[in-house]
Parts: sequence; C-alpha cells; structure tokens
Amino acid sequence: MSVDFSSRWARAEIDSSAITHNAATLRALVAPSRVWAVVKANGYGHGSVEVAQAALAGGADGLCVALVDEGVVLRRAGITAPVLLLSEQPHDQAPLIVGYGLTPTVTTTMGAAAIGSAGAQQGRAVPVHLKVDTGMHRVGVSPREALHLARYIDSHEGLDLEGLYTHFAVADDPEHPANAAQAGLFDDVVSALRADGISPRIVHAANSAAALAAPARRLDMVRVGIALYGLQPGPGVAHLCADLRPAMRLVARVSAVRWIEEGEAVSYGLRRPVDKRSLIATVPIGYADGVPRSLWSTGAGALVGGVARPFAGTITMDQLMLDCGDDSSVAPGDEVVLIGSQGTERITADDWARALGTIGYEIVCGIAPRIARRHL
Ligand SMILES: Cc1ncc(COP(=O)(O)O)c(C=O)c1O
Repeated sequence: MSVDFSSRWARAEIDSSAITHNAATLRALVAPSRVWAVVKANGYGHGSVEVAQAALAGGADGLCVALVDEGVVLRRAGITAPVLLLSEQPHDQAPLIVGYGLTPTVTTTMGAAAIGSAGAQQGRAVPVHLKVDTGMHRVGVSPREALHLARYIDSHEGLDLEGLYTHFAVADDPEHPANAAQAGLFDDVVSALRADGISPRIVHAANSAAALAAPARRLDMVRVGIALYGLQPGPGVAHLCADLRPAMRLVARVSAVRWIEEGEAVSYGLRRPVDKRSLIATVPIGYADGVPRSLWSTGAGALVGGVARPFAGTITMDQLMLDCGDDSSVAPGDEVVLIGSQGTERITADDWARALGTIGYEIVCGIAPRIARRHL
C-alpha cells in the first residue's frame, strides 16, 4: 500500500520562486564565480528535485548531494546538470556513479581506482573532484598527500581531474583565524599541482557563509546550501542574508478548541496551569513530524489569526496545543503557521533554532517525511 500524506492538514509549503530568487541573488553576488546548489538531504527537507529545478532556473550551474541515491533521484527526474557527490562513496557503487553520470569526490587512491576502472570499462574518463582536508578534519586527503593523489588521477585513463576543493569549518565566523589558515593551505596545494602541470578546471572552497562573507574565497564556484533556502548560515553572517527569502512554510489547521478553567493545564505532565480561563487550540502536528518536543518550553509558539500563540503544554507525537487566552475567535479549521508568515507576523526556522540552541539546517532537515511538501 502506498502512503500519501497529502490530505493531512499539516503540510510544508515550499515556495519554488523563493529558491529561484535566492539562486539568482547568490549568482549575481558571486559572479563571475558559478553557483552549485547543495540539494542533499532531500534539498534540506524542501524536496530535492523541485529545489534543483528551481535553483537551475535561477542560474545555478550544478548540484551537490551527499549520497549516490540522492544523485540517482535527480537523474531519474530528468535533471542533466552536473551532480557532485560531496564525499567518497562505497567503492562498490562506482559503476552506479559512473552509469548515472554523477561526479564523484575522491580522497583516496583506492576510491580513485574504483571510479577509474568503472570509467575505463565504459571507455571514458570520468570527471572527478579531489577534496583536500585543510582543517575541517572530516573528509579529504591531507595537503601533504594531495599532489600524489592528483598525479595518480591525472595519469589514469579512466579519470579526468575536473575539480579540486576544500571545505571551511568556521566560515560562519568570518574573522576566525582558521579561515585564513585553511585558505592558505589550500592555496599551497593549488600552487603545488600547477607547478606539477596539473590544473583542475574548477577550484572551489566556499559554502554559503564563505560565499556571502569572503569574496576572495569564491574562486571558480561556490557550493551553496542553506542560503539557497533563505536561511542564515550563522549569526556571524546573518546581516548578509537580507536579500534572501525563506522558502519553507510549515502550516496546519486547528482541529479542535476547548475552554479550560483557571488552574487547569493541558498535555502530558500538565506542566503549565493557566492563570485565567483560556481557549486551547489543538493542532494535528507533533514531534514525529519534526516539531521538536523541547520547543514547548522556550516561549515559542505558532501564528493563528495573525497573532502569536504560545504552546500551552508539551508537544506530543502527533499533536500540539496552543494557548489562545481569552480570544474566542479561534475556531476549528483556522490556519496555523508554525514556520512562515501570517499577516504581519513571521516565525522562521532560524527563530526555532535560536530558541533551541541549534541551527536552522537541523530544523528544516528534521521536518519528517510524513509532512507532505507542496511546491508552489
Ligand atoms: C562539502 C560541503 N559543501 C557545501 C555545503 C553547503 O553548506 P551550506 O549549507 O552551509 O551552504 C555542505 C553542507 O554541509 C558541505 O558538506
């Protein structure tokens, strides 16, 4: 039985025109550098195929994903733009990567060999990007070993060293000395390869934060994720995000209302008794949908009738309750905005992130699959 959640009251509305606008804004900002849109994790929870199409419409030249399957989804949807896999994948997936025309990242000789032999078997040189670990210490060949691996790739008939890149650890804090240190190490690797006669055509380093804050680090292209979705990479670069539009709205409808008396409380634990007779609105969305349970105690809430209403008690798995005070106008069927605008009020994923001590990335990636994405 296939499952379709689209008839639910709770849904995520994705504004594709915001993605296109953000891609075009970023492209204009970083030109002549190119923009590759990072659409891993189902487009940061926004829907990878639709985001990819919207970003390409806004002028993105390529796409980046984390997993082979994520790339295959894009290809099966008919997307022909370059798709970069952001880390080396299990070596037995090399034929799949080459067959679907995905661009692998290589960081080891064994990984390069697996891609190279799949390429040679198909009679072609597969474009690959060599990733250097300049300080993030997550993925990449060390700067010391980069030239050796580059030479191996360069000499392999099944490989074409199209790209060379690195990734910053603290780009959202532009003044942090690690940025200059990483950039310096990376420049040295680029120079060493060039001195050896190896010149990858696409040299890249910047994520959203670096693309926004560090013009010198935009190089041939930038890999932008979070900014494409209209969210902030971090407080240190928030002031550079004014022209970006958040693309996701998380909405639901009031499913029931009831009055409770002074001193009564709602939900598991009956944690917060009301100090006056109050209208409680039940909303059919909960932590299994990606509304973190801990949000209830942060002072956050949701919008109903253009007014912010605090959570009345703990968020449960499938439902949450809002305290509408003495406002008797709230009724079943009313629109509830958890993330997004209603009237003149707005709640963003970044607001949730600040309240919870996390980042907007985690909020949007955490919106569960059982929330249908409606692309507008
Ligand atoms: C290697 C790499 N490049 C670029 C990005 C995009 O980062 P951001 O969403 O901060 O733009 C990511 C995301 O995690 C990444 O892992």
